[in-house]
Amino acid sequence: MRTESAVSKLLVKNLMNSGKVYLVTGAGAGIGRALVEYLSADPGSTVYAGVRDLRRAKSEYGNTSARIVYLDVNKEESIKKAVSSIEKKEGKIDVLINNAGYGLYGPFEEISDKNFRLQFETNFFSCLRLIRLILPGMRKHRQGMIVNVTSVLGRMVLPTGSAYSASKFALEGFSEALRYEVSPFGVNVVIVEPGLVKTNFKKNMDRKSVDASSPYAFFGRRMSNDYSSFTTSAESAARRIARISKKSYPGVRYRVGWDAHLYHFLLLFLPDRFVDLLFRFLVNRFHRAHEREIQSAVRAQ
Ligand SMILES: NC(=O)c1ccc[n+]([C@@H]2O[C@H](COP(=O)([O-])OP(=O)(O)OC[C@H]3O[C@@H](n4cnc5c(N)ncnc54)[C@H](OP(=O)(O)O)[C@@H]3O)[C@@H](O)[C@H]2O)c1
Repeated sequence: MRTESAVSKLLVKNLMNSGKVYLVTGAGAGIGRALVEYLSADPGSTVYAGVRDLRRAKSEYGNTSARIVYLDVNKEESIKKAVSSIEKKEGKIDVLINNAGYGLYGPFEEISDKNFRLQFETNFFSCLRLIRLILPGMRKHRQGMIVNVTSVLGRMVLPTGSAYSASKFALEGFSEALRYEVSPFGVNVVIVEPGLVKTNFKKNMDRKSVDASSPYAFFGRRMSNDYSSFTTSAESAARRIARISKKSYPGVRYRVGWDAHLYHFLLLFLPDRFVDLLFRFLVNRFHRAHEREIQSAVRAQ
């Protein structure tokens, strides 16, 4: 009798553990939203979409099984409330996907300290805050997966991307160190580096406008909002991230999109010196072309 009840208890426990509980941040749009839609198609999983705009999410998520939770990653109270309500209902969070983020772009001298800090708050410190709250539960259950979405620009840089790259480089370094600290507890930390993905990311960028009188005016017209037809779709990025989040023995970092693989491959084989020369050559060319334009405009007056 006693053995039977032990077996049934074990069966119930296994059944309860078969479905994973996910929390995806920044799930109101873009990669996060596509990820929640993809993950919640699996009836075995319970997927929480962390969003800032509840009303919009409720109408847009429509008939998926995703559970929507208010989560502004810059608001400590909102993080605490979201995590504790999920843990209360589900007893655990198995997979945390730190995806919320945005890009702050502009020449460093044109970016205020306040804006630089806000970039770090959203792209870096918010991940730490969520992990601090969720990790104890994962350690207790001796299992868990933390997926930190960085970028190819967390490993390489573009001019005017000092704030964005610094925040993503920081997240990369943090993730690697944490990975080794928590591996004895059965918790995995994984870095996901997307290349260009077709979302509202470019539209939502905080771009510091560079006016004509700025010494950096030559950067002004270099960035466009368009995506080429070769850009990875949010759905295919989501599929890849979902697969990564289900791995039992995940590696330290994964690239998403062909361009991310290409950059990685190039950086493996091109010496730093060459990349440095190339970037400086291009930026100097933009600068000279801009100066020529100004001179010819002055002459024309
Ligand atoms: N798209 C790319 O080319 C690309 C490339 C490399 C890396 N990434 C990374 O991928 C992640 C997702 O970006 P995406 O392409 O999906 O961009 P997106 O379409 O702009 O979506 C970003 C999401 O993050 C949310 N978010 C921003 N600040 C937030 C905050 N304080 N609290 C909660 N949510 C916040 C936004 O919420 P709202 O909907 O409420 O605005 C939105 O849902 C980001 O970490 C980004 O750095 C993107």
